[in-house]
Amino acid sequence: MHKKKLRSQEWFGGNDKMGFVHRSWLRNQGYPDDYFQGKPVIGICNTWSELTPCNGHLRDVAEVVKKGILEAGGFPMEFPVMSLGETIMRPTTMLFRNLASMDTEESIRANPLDGVVLLTGCDKTTPSTIMGACSVDLPTIVVPGGPMLNGRFRGGTIGSGSFNWMIKEKQQTGEFDADDLREAEICAARSIGHCNTMGTASTMATMAEALGLTLPGFSSIPAADSRKKVMQQLSGRRIVEMVREDLTLSKILTREAFENAIVTNAAVGGSTNLIIHLIAIARRIGVDVQLEDFDNLGSQIPLLVNLMPSGKYLMEDFFYAGGLPVVMKELKVLLHGDAITVNGKTIGENYSKAPCYNNDVIATIDKPFQENAGIAVLKGNLCENGAVIKPSAATEKLMKHTGPAVVFESMEDYHERIDLPDLDIDENSVIVLKGVGPKGYPGMPEVGNVDLPEKLIKKGIKDMVRISDGRMSGTAYGTVVLHVSPESSIGGTLAIVQNGDMITLDVENRSLQLNISEDEIAQRKAVWQAPEPLATRGYVRLYLDHVEQAEKGADLDVLVGKSGSKVERDLH
Ligand code: FES
Repeated sequence: MHKKKLRSQEWFGGNDKMGFVHRSWLRNQGYPDDYFQGKPVIGICNTWSELTPCNGHLRDVAEVVKKGILEAGGFPMEFPVMSLGETIMRPTTMLFRNLASMDTEESIRANPLDGVVLLTGCDKTTPSTIMGACSVDLPTIVVPGGPMLNGRFRGGTIGSGSFNWMIKEKQQTGEFDADDLREAEICAARSIGHCNTMGTASTMATMAEALGLTLPGFSSIPAADSRKKVMQQLSGRRIVEMVREDLTLSKILTREAFENAIVTNAAVGGSTNLIIHLIAIARRIGVDVQLEDFDNLGSQIPLLVNLMPSGKYLMEDFFYAGGLPVVMKELKVLLHGDAITVNGKTIGENYSKAPCYNNDVIATIDKPFQENAGIAVLKGNLCENGAVIKPSAATEKLMKHTGPAVVFESMEDYHERIDLPDLDIDENSVIVLKGVGPKGYPGMPEVGNVDLPEKLIKKGIKDMVRISDGRMSGTAYGTVVLHVSPESSIGGTLAIVQNGDMITLDVENRSLQLNISEDEIAQRKAVWQAPEPLATRGYVRLYLDHVEQAEKGADLDVLVGKSGSKVERDLH
């Protein structure tokens, strides 16, 4: 057992004026004296907000976590951090992921905490809090909020998130009117929790577990299931032990842990957003993870789960089939089994026994739902620093495709013109969307999977090649090339694509080419003019001045790395 002096005792252990100050005001909440005499102080970092519906239950979760902390002899202290609600915030939550991570980092460091529990849920609330915690590097455990129960609509299943992408099609084919829409809304979100597809929130929870940051089996349990509460309580108990063992984040987040997360993400058909968030987390903790790692380690991994958006089931079904432990056991030979996790045991130990109860939901590695399901990283003159595509969500025959560009200079331009009857576009065209990268929007929104034009939907066209410097919702699908870097707003080649230019996508050869000469590209770039800055003050100005490109995780350059938990200057 580690006997390191508790960090919190620097605040609470003194018998001087400042010891009085640190303890006295807290006493107004009624804490007995022994709480200040060497109990590990555990911060419960809560992303609860009524404006973040996926995290709306986290105040109740905090109370259960507190029970566990108290049982193990710890002193729980809940604190709020900025919450990011995917369906509400404008212009996009990704603009604020780094701000929320700063809030988390500074809230942890500035306070008398020995360990931290991160309460997470909606997409960005997981990476932002982990990034912030990494830059402090205390013992930390993640408590995922859990997915919603299966949506049920008129006798069928409805996936929160993935259903959104069918609405335009259903309305334009006359299948859906306003009353149908209202009825579907409540059916799609019938319980507490985050999106119930393998969208970004489920991907992030899966990532946290594969990294070793949650108790085993935690990430797949629906938010409303009482077994979630058991895990919350056990997490509270465990974080106190982790403090006593000095099991810090950097001891868990090794290169091997990141490789495990990449492999697991491929096997569950996880969101492309994982790439940006995982790179950002790695750069905070100081582990070298490159864009190419996702292709080298993940692209050959078979798809083992049949979950939307790649498949047909939802997270509730996944849990009943055995959940992530089954996948981790199937992947045994491909994972680093000796990677340590928050419970003090290794990945190999945690997932040695995990029976599957439904092979239509979770396949064996010998008989997967799809071979080579991971993310493909593209290179070429249209994306010198890389771009990504999710083959498991794409259309097979479009994976090798040459077509003329139909260019939209911004999202506003796209909305104005996409449904014009005389727009020169057909199913062979390549939709090019500019100005939606980290600096361009600003905040790199999830718009890469833009809807097809109405006239082509009416013809029965379901998919087209779409290319942008933006991201795509983890619940979305289609032959969509994302994260093009350098982005158009800083003068990447994407910026100079014109209507009618031929573009070739060749996923097998990992290539994305603009079929014009290098001379022509150079000439166009020479006369290209950068857009006006989108903000002159405030956080957005700070963001614009410091945000990095997608292949570096779109973090702020000044936030990369960690400062540790030491605060050089005392409160005077
Ligand atoms: Fe919150 Fe999907 S909107 S997880």
